[in-house]
Amino acid sequence: MPIVTSTEMFKKAYDGGYAIGAFNVNNMEIIQGITEAAKEVNSPLILQVSAGARKYAKHVYLMKLIEAAEEDTGLPICVHLDHGENFEICKSCIDGGFTSVMIDGSKHPFEENVAITAEVVKYAHDHGVVVEGELGRLAGIEDAVNVRPEDSSYTRPEEVEEFVARTGVDSLAIAIGTSHGAYKFKPGQKPQLRFDILEEVAKRLPGFPIVLHGASSVIPEYVDIINKNGGAMPDAIGVPEPMLRKAAQMAVCKINIDSDLRLAMTAGVRQTLMNSPAEFDPRKYLITGRDNIRELVKNKIVNVLGSDNKA
Ligand code: G3H
Ligand code: 13P
Ligand code: ZN
Repeated sequence: MPIVTSTEMFKKAYDGGYAIGAFNVNNMEIIQGITEAAKEVNSPLILQVSAGARKYAKHVYLMKLIEAAEEDTGLPICVHLDHGENFEICKSCIDGGFTSVMIDGSKHPFEENVAITAEVVKYAHDHGVVVEGELGRLAGIEDAVNVRPEDSSYTRPEEVEEFVARTGVDSLAIAIGTSHGAYKFKPGQKPQLRFDILEEVAKRLPGFPIVLHGASSVIPEYVDIINKNGGAMPDAIGVPEPMLRKAAQMAVCKINIDSDLRLAMTAGVRQTLMNSPAEFDPRKYLITGRDNIRELVKNKIVNVLGSDNKA
């Protein structure tokens, strides 16, 4: 099975009431952990690469590693640019073999977002590549994405039909209260998502795949392991898994997960090094991180996304 677009995956996910996991990848161990898990439970996958990941590992290394994973597992894998901020990076990823790109025009006013997104869609579709756009702004801080809570905003459902019609995007990321990173809700705050917005968007765009960013659950066990092994993470709260399951049963076909992978990897590395302070073979501590990622992703696929046995 070659590297594929997400078109077929989304169609089946929408009709079947489940979602495809879009996992951020930065190195070989992360790619192996995710794809080995997906293989075990026979799930389709989206592997996504941010500008920061391309800078860290180089486009060509990540592309070749993903091709190797595809050859190794035989799974349908879509390779996606996460949070492309302009036409140039989208073009570079399309020319470099990605099958899907996100143009994140969400920081721009509506008309500018439409213009930049439509330009990317034209180039992408001419090259057989699909495009994710975004309306509304998530809060949160990661390498390339840095939005203060006061600058975030929910998606306005009354804008979505016009945006999709004028841009031609294949999927749409919306903001309903999730955010990027490990600190999504304040300690003591009850996590809440605006399912009413998702419902209204779905009503206005029947059959159209919706994307949820900032969807890590921030697994407490991993934060605990990190803090018991020399770490000092403040209270971290993510999106409860039942909310993600509910979104997956609605119009959400793609659920983005990065922070949980980071926590799983870091917990494994910290635990091994604390238990074996004389260890200096990277294979001995990276393997624990990779094992954690495999378990995490298997659990996500089977218990949250519902994409097992759908490859
Ligand atoms: O949403 C952003 C992703 O989690 C990627 O983060 O830019 O730090 O690689 P990054
Ligand atoms: P998390 O930080 O919740 O993992 O979100 C990742 C994401 O949205 C990547 O685009
Ligand atoms: Zn994101």
